[in-house]
This record gives sequence, structure tokens and C-alpha cells, in this order.
Amino acid sequence: MSLNNQESFSPPTFADQKRKTVEVAEFTEDGRYKRKVRSFVLRTGRLSEFQKNAMNQNWHYYGLEHQNQPFDFKKIYGNDNPVVLEIGFGMGYSLVEMALNNPDKNYLGIEVHTPGVGACIAYALEKEVKNLRVICHDATEILRDCIADESLGGLQLFFPDPWHKKKHHKRRIVQPRFIQTICQKLYAGAFVHFATDWENYAQQMLDVLQQEPCLQNTSNTNDYIPRPDFRPLTKFEQRGKKLGHGVWDLYFLKTTE
Ligand SMILES: C[S@@+](CC[C@H](N)C(=O)[O-])C[C@H]1O[C@@H](n2cnc3c(N)ncnc32)[C@H](O)[C@@H]1O
Repeated sequence: MSLNNQESFSPPTFADQKRKTVEVAEFTEDGRYKRKVRSFVLRTGRLSEFQKNAMNQNWHYYGLEHQNQPFDFKKIYGNDNPVVLEIGFGMGYSLVEMALNNPDKNYLGIEVHTPGVGACIAYALEKEVKNLRVICHDATEILRDCIADESLGGLQLFFPDPWHKKKHHKRRIVQPRFIQTICQKLYAGAFVHFATDWENYAQQMLDVLQQEPCLQNTSNTNDYIPRPDFRPLTKFEQRGKKLGHGVWDLYFLKTTE
């Protein structure tokens, strides 16, 4: 190695390491590593210096870690406002916009893609958003381990990976079990808002949401709602639009039962 290379070497930082800890390793009874069906692929996209610095310098404020007990939202946000959870926020721009537009709500974003987490924190900082926290971890584990029952005011999932091929449909995050877990975590009157640009996935979302007795569809036509103005355009939605894709929004409420 040349002296130059030695000089430019810098040890991996917190942000560089984060992608290695996005899930909890689980083992079978005989000690073998349990392979999980994941809804994500850890993309190799480079974490830019800008995203890395945003994460390293501001994690103490914006970042939350996976833990084996429920988050204390009052302590985290310093108020009792409803907490809206967004799963898979991508680069996070639409999430930051929503937090900015709704100061009477607290937002919690989960994303496994570290460049997205860094970009989201940088944008939140630029906009001086205070009612937002982010987690870089598998959302299914966060829901299972860190969110108390009946503690969420809303759950939003915008343009989740559609896993086009039929043999991969089991990797879609929206499954009956996922919806049951969500229902447990929402309090009465809370919302579930999904959007997708993949018609076949929209149909699957509708089927599983309609099967859940604690949820009520707000659609006048008992299927989808018109695209609401309060949902900012996301990066994936924009990409789909360029490709001529349609968009399906689903908006359900948890009943008081
Ligand atoms: C197709 S992208 C959409 C991103 C963004 N919502 C948008 O519309 O631009 C889906 C995102 O969900 C994230 N994701 C998928 N499964 C996840 C999980 N179990 N936990 C956290 N993030 C997940 C992926 O990393 C990816 O960034």
C-alpha cells in the first residue's frame, strides 16, 4: 500500500457500520442461523460523505435504536401528540415534508437503506424539523419488539417494494400477519394509509386490509381513495409516473371495537 493510501484510510464510522445491524440475528434450537423471508434487499448504494456526516453528527437527536422494550414516546418527543409510523421512507423527503406540515403530530420513520436514513436526517436538519425520529432497522422487528400495543395514531407505507414475480410475493411486506400486528399497535380511530403504483399489489393490499375486522375502509367505492393532497410526492411515485404507472391509495381506520 502506498503512503498516500495509508494516509487516506479512515476507520469505518457509526454510519458506515449501521447497515450491518439492521436485523437481530436469530438461531434455531440447534444453534443454526435462521434465514428470514425479508421484504428488503440491502442495496449497496454508496453512503455519501454528506449523508454519513448527517447521520454521525445528528444520530443522538434523530436516531433511535432497536431495543427489547417499548419506546417511551412521551419521553422521546417531549409531548403527547399522536405518533405516525412510516415504514420504508426511502430518501425521506416526503416524510420530512409531512412532519413539517403537521407540527401537531410526531413522526417515526423506519428504513434499512443507510443512504436514505442519512439523506432524511440531513433534510430534517435543513428544515429544522423537531417532530421526527428515524430508525435504521427491519420494520417487522421494530413493530414486534419496540412499539407498545395501542400506541400509534397512524401507520403509513408508501410504494413498498412490489416484488413483481409471483415466486417473490411472499416477500411483500403487506401480508395478513403484518396487518394483524399493525392493528394491535394502533389505537381506536388511528389510520392506515398505503399507496402503490403496482395494481396487483394494490389488490393484495385491499384484500388483506378488508379481511381485518378491526379496520374500516374510508373509500366511498369500498376500494381505493383519490390521491390525497396531503401526501407529498415520493421519489418512487415520481419514477412510476414517468413510466406511466397508475397510483392506488388505500385509507382505513381502526374501529373502536
Ligand atoms: C420502493 S422503496 C419506496 C421508498 C419511498 N417510500 C418512496 O416512495 O420513494 C421501498 C423502501 O422500503 C424499504 N424497506 C423494505 N422493507 C423494509 C423493512 N422491513 N424495514 C424497513 N425498511 C424497509 C426499502 O429499503 C426501500 O427503501
